[in-house]
Amino acid sequence: MSENQKGYLSTANQKKVTTHRLREMKRQGEKISMLTAYDYSMASVIDQAGVDVILVGDSASNVMAGNATTLPMTVDQMIYHGKSVMNAVKRAMVVVDMPFGSYQGDPYEAVANAVKMMKETQADCLKLEGGEEIIESIRAILNAGIPVMGHLGLMPQSINKYGTYAVRAKEEKEAAKLMEDARLLQEVGCCSVVLEKIPAAVAGEVTAELMIPTIGIGAGAQVDGQVLVMHDMLGLNKGFSPRFLRRYANLFDEITTAVQQYVSDVKSSDFPSKEESY
Ligand code: KIV
Repeated sequence: MSENQKGYLSTANQKKVTTHRLREMKRQGEKISMLTAYDYSMASVIDQAGVDVILVGDSASNVMAGNATTLPMTVDQMIYHGKSVMNAVKRAMVVVDMPFGSYQGDPYEAVANAVKMMKETQADCLKLEGGEEIIESIRAILNAGIPVMGHLGLMPQSINKYGTYAVRAKEEKEAAKLMEDARLLQEVGCCSVVLEKIPAAVAGEVTAELMIPTIGIGAGAQVDGQVLVMHDMLGLNKGFSPRFLRRYANLFDEITTAVQQYVSDVKSSDFPSKEESY
């Protein structure tokens, strides 16, 4: 197929990343890079910087709204963030989290919420947390033609059930259940699966077992890709330092310095200068 024939999946000079491309990357041993974004400006920066997948995560609840958990997010709030990101992105595949309460019950309701989210955001894929317990909702959403990314291991929407953000699947029984869930997600047709905060060895076994890509966060190196929350990797959030987090910038300090300089320039009447005035 020529570039023109599949034009709706491509931009002027860069091919759009699709679910098909993710599978190809796994087959070819090319690691997948994924980062979260929630707004137009940051999505635009990270898309042009070359990230493969942008996750409009319900971690927006923590880093954008300042909530303690992801549970308060609503379908309409996720749509707002999803639309804002989609307005910016040209190349990356965009995945939007279905929020807590929008898919854990009746599968018909899950499809209705998923269709609304896809129509209103025009995103490429939705992500749902869970395995066997929500498999009928996942099946129904996939049957509607909507790609689904799974999410196993630590599932922040179930934090009240766990009562802790500690590493999951350390015990054999939980690791076996995770493997079963991963197989099930592949079998129903999920395009990939996020593995959060589990032992590297368990993540490696799941990755070797599956044909679909695994994307880890706190799941070690033996996975097909990595995801981080953008605010954490840019150092905007000083109070959050889990072992798995690598900081690539220290924006909290850089922004503080810039704002302090601005305040000082305003107070001293240094800003604006003659050149900055009309
Ligand atoms: O909401 C989110 O940011 C996520 C990632 C942590 C994978 O689900």
